[in-house]
Amino acid sequence: MKKYKIAVIKGDGIGPEVIGETIKVLDKTGKEFGFAFEWNEYPYSAGHYLATAEIMPEHAMEEMSKCDAMLLGAIGDPRVKPGIMEQGILLALRFRFDQYVNLRPAFSLPRVKTPVDLKGIKIDSVVVRENTEDLYMCIGGTTESGELELPVDVSRGKYELTGSIKLKTDPRYPFAAQAAINSKPGVERITRYAAELAKKRGEDTVTVVSKSNAVSALYGFFEEVAKKVMADEYPELKYAMVNVDALCYHLVRNPSAYGVLLCPNLFGDIISDLQAGLAGGLGTAAGGNIGEGLSMFEPVHGSAPDIVGTGRSNPVAAILSGAMMLEHLGEGEASKKINKAVSDFLENASNEDLPFEFGGTSTFEQVGENIRRNI
Ligand code: NAD
Ligand code: IPM
Ligand code: MN
Repeated sequence: MKKYKIAVIKGDGIGPEVIGETIKVLDKTGKEFGFAFEWNEYPYSAGHYLATAEIMPEHAMEEMSKCDAMLLGAIGDPRVKPGIMEQGILLALRFRFDQYVNLRPAFSLPRVKTPVDLKGIKIDSVVVRENTEDLYMCIGGTTESGELELPVDVSRGKYELTGSIKLKTDPRYPFAAQAAINSKPGVERITRYAAELAKKRGEDTVTVVSKSNAVSALYGFFEEVAKKVMADEYPELKYAMVNVDALCYHLVRNPSAYGVLLCPNLFGDIISDLQAGLAGGLGTAAGGNIGEGLSMFEPVHGSAPDIVGTGRSNPVAAILSGAMMLEHLGEGEASKKINKAVSDFLENASNEDLPFEFGGTSTFEQVGENIRRNI
């Protein structure tokens, strides 16, 4: 029997709750479709860090690289200063495995109430987020002395960047600086991914999300490189550009107006939460971090410290991320089965059986169990 070796980090907050249910759904699906999983669980999280002072060692990532894929819950905990866990685990994995695509689909689900009247039209769009560059290079610092040198030593799949950025001002004026970088190979590869996806989805347009009117160098460059790839390699597709501020406006008024949204890293982060909100809830928004090596599947949402331990976390986003993982592993039919099990559950559940997020009273465990019944 085919056995997939999967690295797992359940992480912080509701991460263990929703990934626990996802593993049970995937095990059941494997049984039905004739494959199995070996779950290689790693403890890295805020709890582990607070107990041991260890964030995530290189040897663990070396081991993970031998897995077929990875499943992650959420990283981040109010007991630890923002950024330490998120950069030390989540971003470290995205960069280490050069997972340059963050794929975040948004679609309407049965009975899930949306905050905007969709007038019967279904949402079906996808954020293709560049996942290794932009303001996420982790090159930044603050100074009290008026002098700041930011060392740059970045390694991405396509290139290495070294050197430093030096800044100086009057010592009376402390400041902070953070560098954003978009590279030609970085923009080219994510544009190709978005274009191929648009073709696969039967769409004729890739819409680049930008802000070159204010941030000209960074996003003017992103637009130029993306436009050239589209013109040279995908003449059958249309290239469109929307400024991120206007996109927020259009999306709220007409959430189904867009298909493939090609986003620089930071805009992709923000737009994927907006899309999740419009489609009905972060608890249903799935995602994948995809690259040539180890790919990692995780819900769009975070550790939700406001609801952890109350039973109110919705495991659907994590379960649908598990379905995306199956598709990535080449188990397309099994993946479809999970997607159908989720929509059948939502369609047929009593009001009480719905997750709290949708006005019901079902805990993450009850929701997980009801979805498993449909497999
Ligand atoms: P969040 O996504 O954790 O929560 C935002 C809101 O959505 C909260 O009200 C939360 O209760 C709700 N929510 C999220 N997931 C839900 C689910 N499955 N079911 C029901 N409700 C859900 O964002 P935040 O509050 O900004 O961040 C909390 C922590 O998570 C921070 O430490 C942040 O850095 C981290 N974070 C991690 C990831 C990740 O690991 N991929 C993503 C986003 C935020
Ligand atoms: C996400 C999260 C992360 C991001 C944070 C936790 C670093 O918001 O996965 O969307 O900004 O990418
Ligand atoms: Mn986010």
